[in-house]
Parts: sequence; C-alpha cells; structure tokens
Amino acid sequence: MNVGPGAGKRQPALTSVAGRFTLVVVSLSLSACAEDAPSILQPASDAAVRIERLWWVVFWISAVAVVVVVGLIVAAAIRGRSRSDDEVDRSRVRWGDRFIVVAGLWVTGGILATTFLLSLREMNALSSPPEEPRLSIEVVAHNWWWEVRYPNGAVTANEIHVPVGDPVEVRLPSADVIHSFWVPQLQVKKDHIPGMDNSLWLVADAPGRYRGQCAEYCGLQHANMVFYVVAQPRDDFSAWLAHEASPANEPTTLAARRGRDVFLGSSCIGCHTMRGTGAVGDLGPDLTHLAARETIGAGLMPLTRENLRDFVANPQDDKPGVTMPPTELSEEELEAVVDYLMQLE
Ligand code: CUA
Repeated sequence: MNVGPGAGKRQPALTSVAGRFTLVVVSLSLSACAEDAPSILQPASDAAVRIERLWWVVFWISAVAVVVVVGLIVAAAIRGRSRSDDEVDRSRVRWGDRFIVVAGLWVTGGILATTFLLSLREMNALSSPPEEPRLSIEVVAHNWWWEVRYPNGAVTANEIHVPVGDPVEVRLPSADVIHSFWVPQLQVKKDHIPGMDNSLWLVADAPGRYRGQCAEYCGLQHANMVFYVVAQPRDDFSAWLAHEASPANEPTTLAARRGRDVFLGSSCIGCHTMRGTGAVGDLGPDLTHLAARETIGAGLMPLTRENLRDFVANPQDDKPGVTMPPTELSEEELEAVVDYLMQLE
C-alpha cells in the first residue's frame, strides 16, 4: 500500500500502466501487419466479406460511442470548474435525469439490439453454403496438430488443400480436448468438441495459402497449433488429391533405403502411418507424403532437412510437451531416416 508522504506520487504508476497499454496496442497492431498473420480485414471469401462488414459496423458504432462519451466527460469537467460549490441548478438536474434514461437506456439498448440482430442475420447467412458441398473432409484436432482426412483415403497433416470456388464441408472432431478451427480470411471459427459432430463449410474465392490457427486454449503448445488452407485450381487439386492417396514412394538411394529399414524396425511405427509399408500407428501425423508439406510441427518451422533432423532428434527442444519423445536412434540411423523422410514427396 502506498500511504504517507509518498501517497501523492501516483503519476509514475499511472504513466507506466498507460505506457504498457500503449505498448500492447501498438505491438498488437504491428503484429497484425506481419506478412504471415491473417486478418479478417483481408477477406478471401464471400463469407469472410460478410464478417468484415459486420466488424466495420461494430467498429464505427463503438468509435462514435467512445467519442461521444469522452466528449461528454470532458464537457462536464470543464463546466464543473466554472461553478462554485454552493451553486446548484435544479433545471439542469431534471434535464440530466431525462438524459440518463434516454442515453443510458434507449440509445444503449438500441445499439445492443441492432448489433445483435445484425450478428444473427450474418450467423444465419454463414450457417449454410451457397450450394451443396461436393467435397466433405474431416479435420481431427489433436494436441497439438491437425489430421486431415479425405474421402478417397488420402490423409495428411496441418495442410488442407481445397479446390478454388467449390464449397467444402469440414467436419470437426477432436481426439482429445476442445480446440477451435479458425481461418480468419475464409470463415468464422468453430470449436472441435470431443463427442460432438461440429462442422462448417468454406469456399476460397482465389488460389492462395490461408493461415489457420487453433483459437481455443488447449495447453502448452496452443500457440504452435497452426495450419494452412491451400486453395488450388480444380485440376491441380485433383492431381494433388490423387497423389496424396497413393502409397509412399519407394526409396531410390542407398541411404534412403537404409533409412526405410531403420524406420520400419524402430518405435516410430508405433505412432506413425506410412501407407504402403508396415507402419500403421495412429497417434502422430501420417507421414506417407511428409516431404510434400511446407512446414513441420504444425506450422512450427519450414520443412528443411536440417529442421526435420533436429525435430526427430528431440522434439521436446523445438516443441516442449509434444507426445513424441526424443529419438533412440544412433546418429547414423537418424541421418538415414531423415534421408528417407525427405524423399517422401
Ligand atoms: Cu488446439 Cu488451442
């Protein structure tokens, strides 16, 4: 408690609170400008345009409310100073009562009701796709990565390919706790809830790579639970999908062949699937076409040979808390396995 002679010196504390607040606001706005950070203000679908429009309506209503309220506070402070303490104007008080009822009840209630009704209208519009989805995929949320399953048997992780312009139904089961599927440039967010059949739909209007993020706190690596929606022209998408459903490539080099033998003889197969081989584990991501992905560790870092080697050697260094333990492979075995994994395109 700050009492006694020092009690009057509260300015520095206030300044530092204001300073910290400014810092948070500035860093948040700067982070929103970062190249890879998605924003609902850069919509890439009709659904996201609706969300953006609603955002601006709420923003401007709030901005006007802030300006009016701050203006009234400043006016009251200025007028209060010019009056002496024993001077009371009764008529002004009566007008004040009416003002409180009108501004505090009717105007506020009107604003809340309007934004509520606008939100309901958009929620209704966003609940069903413009046409029946021809593709239905399943995205299973895990601590802390995304399993993506296609109807033709293709299974991948953390990268969701979709055809441009076609509505896609995304079913949202969870393997463990509550997560939330959010691609700000394409759709609203929706939770993966264990035991519930949630789903949403999305359409990407243009080819591109849209970042998604788990939007429900789910434990230590919640922030590193990233995925990408890759929207491709229909033909490219079909080719990608057919390839993803195919079995893993046969290793072509001596080192990669050695790597496959080490992999299939190791504990890796207890958790990972490699379609076309004896590996059918289902705790970790399907690795059949691992090398075709852009990142590892659910958006944690770009997929390069060096990053992959580090990650397999000890995932707990890169992503503390993940299920995968440090490797038991020797240095030579590890290098061979990484050679094998890097050619699984
Ligand atoms: Cu999954 Cu947060």
